[in-house]
Amino acid sequence: MAEERSQWNSRFGFLMAMIGSAVGLGNIWRFPNVIYYNGGGSFLIPYIVALFILGISFVMVEYALGYRFKSSVGKILYSIHNKLEPIGWVILVIIFLILSYYVCVIGWDLIYFVLSFSQGWGADPSTFFASGVLQASDGLEGIFSFVPWVLISVIVVWATIYTITRSKLDKGIEAVSKILIPLLVVMVIIIVAFSLTLPGAFIGVTQLVTPNWAALTNFDVWLAAFGQIVFSLSLGMAIAITYSSYLPEGSKLVDSALTVVFSNSTFEVFNSFGVFAILGFMSLTSGIAINSLITEGSYMGMAFIVFPQVFNVMGFGAYIIGPLFFGCILFAGITSAIALVEPISATITEKFNIKRSISATIVCGLGFLVSLLFTTQAGLFILTIFDSFLNNFALLLTIVIECIIFGWIYNFDNLIETMNEYSTIKLGKIWKFVIKFALPICILIFWISGIQSTILAADLTSQLIMLGLSLVIIIVPIILSILPAKNEKYYDVIDEI
Ligand code: ALA
Repeated sequence: MAEERSQWNSRFGFLMAMIGSAVGLGNIWRFPNVIYYNGGGSFLIPYIVALFILGISFVMVEYALGYRFKSSVGKILYSIHNKLEPIGWVILVIIFLILSYYVCVIGWDLIYFVLSFSQGWGADPSTFFASGVLQASDGLEGIFSFVPWVLISVIVVWATIYTITRSKLDKGIEAVSKILIPLLVVMVIIIVAFSLTLPGAFIGVTQLVTPNWAALTNFDVWLAAFGQIVFSLSLGMAIAITYSSYLPEGSKLVDSALTVVFSNSTFEVFNSFGVFAILGFMSLTSGIAINSLITEGSYMGMAFIVFPQVFNVMGFGAYIIGPLFFGCILFAGITSAIALVEPISATITEKFNIKRSISATIVCGLGFLVSLLFTTQAGLFILTIFDSFLNNFALLLTIVIECIIFGWIYNFDNLIETMNEYSTIKLGKIWKFVIKFALPICILIFWISGIQSTILAADLTSQLIMLGLSLVIIIVPIILSILPAKNEKYYDVIDEI
């Protein structure tokens, strides 16, 4: 007997879980950095374009599919065409790999959360991060040497994720999101309010809202905007498909989707006011121009280097704002990580007819084993390669493929009908045009440029790791599709094309 399909207890619970899946590390430490490097205030223009063309349109597709099929992504693709099941598994393998390093970044944050009570990073946070916390090497050297504190914190984070995801939907993901997301909002409001009172805050805020129009002619700025929307809204990761498959009949899909998308963007834009105010304070205190504050190229630099530097000179307030800041990243990270587990474990549960607690054990157990890679001295090096390859290349490609499948192979009008059935706001044919033409063409252009910047420009070791990842992303899905389902209903076709 297949386990009974989970369902959300309340619309609020669903919305909190969806917002929790979207609001994550991407909002708190990635977004302010992306704005910082891509023209400040004027970045909001490509960001809003990306939000409408890509974000809203694609999220709606995921909502409609999950809600209409009430199935996992593997079964939905099988239903659309029996040769398409491997694509479902490709998506799942990609998000599994993203999850494996995402958990590690949450682990670093956990270390900083603990340190923030005593400013245990010392007087030189930059050296402390690279040599003290990560003990990072420049390449694969040290791949067999575990970094004890990172290992311990990754174990703690995985154990937390496992405890939540193995429980029933309403007792696990829903209950946790209903507590953590409102708490997160309150914490961010406190941080932003406090930051705006700091001396020099206006320097940072001015920097944030002052547009650099020249940046708009730079293709990379547009690429960054689309990349941010993909990461921040967890597009193409089948999370919205899975979460909306647990909705009861009569749900207002368009209204819910818009609530989630705008909450996510409001959160990240609002949060950046706090971040820039803090940078302004740092600029005033140190006499260094804001543009020169972040010398570390990667976006980890802002959270784990610049912020500890700021807290060191902030005085007593830092002992409150520091733990709040790292606590926010922790909560946001956990609610996104549990959302990455769910699509994988839902498909395993459905195909192999096992309990969700067992699927969660498999996903978290294997995930932990892969995460071990990032707890070694070569962890940062490998993580950077995973991050750029999976986000700039693999995930974008699956979004294009999904647009082709759902826009061209499947009867898209079914999705329009599903979305509009109970919603207050109705979607028109323009949505179909965006999914069939505008979105895949746009993403394809970015994808091609991603090949240049991510793959061709990389060194040989990185390219070999990317090759290994590509093989995993191709071979594992084929095997998982060939394995026969233990649930005879898995092969039932559940919709007319
Ligand atoms: N959407 C998640 C984030 O922003 C993955 O971190």
